[in-house]
Amino acid sequence: MQSRTVSELLSEKITPIEVDIKGWVRTFRANRFIALNDGSTLNNIQCVVDFEKFDDALLKRITTGAAIHIKGELVESQGKGQSVEIQVNAFEILGDSDPETYPIQPKKHSFEFLRENAHLRTRTNTFSAVMRLRSALSFAIHKYFNDHGFYYMHAPIITGSDAEGAGEMFKVSSLDAKNPPLDDQGEVDYTQDFFGKETNLTVSGQLEAETYAMSLGKVYTFGPTFRAENSNTSRHLAEFWMIEPEVAFMDLNGNMDLAEDFMKYVIGYILENNREDLDFLDQRLSDEEKTKPQAERSPMGLIEKLNFVTQNNFKRVSYTEAIDILRRCKPNKKKKFKYIIDEWGADLQSEHERFLVEKHFKCPVILFDYPANIKAFYMRLNEDGKTVRAMDILFPGIGEIVGGAQREERLDILKEKMAAIDIPEEELWWYLDLRKYGTAVHSGFGLGFERLVMFATGMSNIRDVIPFPRTPQNAEF
Ligand code: 4AD
Ligand code: MG
Repeated sequence: MQSRTVSELLSEKITPIEVDIKGWVRTFRANRFIALNDGSTLNNIQCVVDFEKFDDALLKRITTGAAIHIKGELVESQGKGQSVEIQVNAFEILGDSDPETYPIQPKKHSFEFLRENAHLRTRTNTFSAVMRLRSALSFAIHKYFNDHGFYYMHAPIITGSDAEGAGEMFKVSSLDAKNPPLDDQGEVDYTQDFFGKETNLTVSGQLEAETYAMSLGKVYTFGPTFRAENSNTSRHLAEFWMIEPEVAFMDLNGNMDLAEDFMKYVIGYILENNREDLDFLDQRLSDEEKTKPQAERSPMGLIEKLNFVTQNNFKRVSYTEAIDILRRCKPNKKKKFKYIIDEWGADLQSEHERFLVEKHFKCPVILFDYPANIKAFYMRLNEDGKTVRAMDILFPGIGEIVGGAQREERLDILKEKMAAIDIPEEELWWYLDLRKYGTAVHSGFGLGFERLVMFATGMSNIRDVIPFPRTPQNAEF
């Protein structure tokens, strides 16, 4: 007989039937009831053991965490809490688990503790729910783009360019770190390195995606990106996944429409298809909120928040309007912000973004037309000569979740902007070629996947929505 999943058995309409199932023991109660989980669903299936039929030594090996193979009969449940259960006829312990040392005891563990045991944390309800949702969101993203005529493009992981111009890159080198070859000036001679030049892990696939947009029309990347910024916050990772669509002949307004429609679709997808896990996380979050002081509690539950995003328009606000609001707002006047906003041109910090979204507009916000000098070189300069066609999407509880722009398609202006910040033309000759041969208006954006998963699951630390987080001083597993 073929093994079936817990998920299949729990929705089985026909009983009694012979079944065969494998999974891990969550608990074994009263020497009689096994709660069995196999990852196919949040729920366990109850397996009832008649202890008189089995050897004591064998029963003792049914411990939390053990892998077990059960054969029995699926019957209507006698007890409360489940519609069906398995009457165990035979079982085999596939892998023992030592109850003295097994870290995932059937009790509440702190997220910090579970991070140290990230290899086992998906054996808990919270992390299995989060990771099933992460998987569903990935699928929804591919589905959205596929349904809308986009091609999936694989941008390189190793590159010679710094797409964001921020210099926060991890070097890739096969030179001997202790004894690298030196040039006449005494500098490391990268011409002798593996690629014959300096290379790094990519911070964004955008520049390469632009080359494909300018031939295939509508493309997107979905891959890992790396940033060596030393920001030890609950929203930054050194290795994170980014989704970057790029579309030819689309301007900034089209870009905002695409981003909003896309975000609503992927969130709507999990509301429709992953209700069990979302209901569980909704309850978890509401329990957690109850432990906070009233003033700090979120006014909305998880599912309410997700529905709100799918049902309401994102508010579109220019940077200049946002600065006016921030300058005049209470926390700014009362110096409650860590960074006081007094002049146009200031970069927005996460405290300002969250004020706009959570306190002022109380809905997702798209900020656009930022000052040129706080944004990347590739963004299209506006007629005013001081702002660029940038957009950031800000979400409640998260702050910036998407960053994008209409790209500078005019060769002369792009060259001027690169010169101003010392990006050598030789380094990006191929990027400039796009402006030489059939240039056109085009736009795109980057969605931080883990920030989306945080929003969708209500988890407050980005380390808890990626399997094995990479952060400063931490690359375990
Ligand atoms: O705003 P960013 O830096 O934009 C770009 O990289 C553009 N090239 C995107 C594009 O237009 N194609 O990053 C995009 C998003 C951010 O809005 C944020 O959600 C996420 O990536 N992000 C991070 N997520 C986790 N950890 C980090 N260190 C992140 N840095 C950016
Ligand atoms: Mg950004």
